[in-house]
Amino acid sequence: MHASMTNNTRKKIVAGNWKMNVLPSQVTEFVTELRNRISGTDVDVVICPPFVCLPAAVAAAQNSGLSTQDSGLIKVGAQNMHWEGTGAFTGEVSPNMLTDLKIEYVIIGHSERRQYFSETDETVNKKIHTALMYGLKPIVCVGETLEQREQGITYEMLRMQTRLALQGLEDEQVRSIILAYEPIWAIGTGKTATPEDANNAIAAIRGVVGEVYGQDVAQQIRIQYGGSVNAGNAKELFGMPDIDGGLVGGASLKADEFEKIVRY
Ligand code: 13P
Repeated sequence: MHASMTNNTRKKIVAGNWKMNVLPSQVTEFVTELRNRISGTDVDVVICPPFVCLPAAVAAAQNSGLSTQDSGLIKVGAQNMHWEGTGAFTGEVSPNMLTDLKIEYVIIGHSERRQYFSETDETVNKKIHTALMYGLKPIVCVGETLEQREQGITYEMLRMQTRLALQGLEDEQVRSIILAYEPIWAIGTGKTATPEDANNAIAAIRGVVGEVYGQDVAQQIRIQYGGSVNAGNAKELFGMPDIDGGLVGGASLKADEFEKIVRY
């Protein structure tokens, strides 16, 4: 029996990465609708709007009168941040700006940031250290390109990215991180990894965490799958023993579809 099957008490977490979509003027209505749709679910639900939408998103998520932390409803995350707390970094957003807004999560190392904005394993690692120092929960993305998959080096890539991302962290810090396996060829393409493939890759990532931080941490850390998740495939994917939920792009922009994913 797979190790995770014997000890899977991990709470599922479904996060919507809105990327560079949705306008500030649309956020309040959208988050309010989502909040109403997902109430009563036993899943952590996080939305990650663009920076300029964050204040309105937090306000709408909190409108229940409870903090997002207590309400069990929608939690809010950013899509990126700088690795310094403050300073002369024109155009950047710092972790303490996010915590000042009561943001809880931050996506770090998304493949689009690695591909288009020179994010490296080194900056990913720095950002994770800083995010944790400021009390943010990082959602750390790893994943192979199509070329790497075809060359048969998927697991080597995943092992290396995971090790470098987590370098120098304490056990306790690693427990609060969310990892997201996002094969780059599956992002925005409509092609999804098969549930077995995604589960095996995530089990391999969990294996690396186990080698470095021990089985206890490896069994606690939550690892999502991302890449063309939709209402039709969420159930099969999230039903796999090592897959602890999803990081959803396109389908998180449609309230009815995102609700179906959350209620898989
Ligand atoms: P899609 O769900 O649109 O493929 O995007 C996945 C993703 O990149 C989430 O971060």
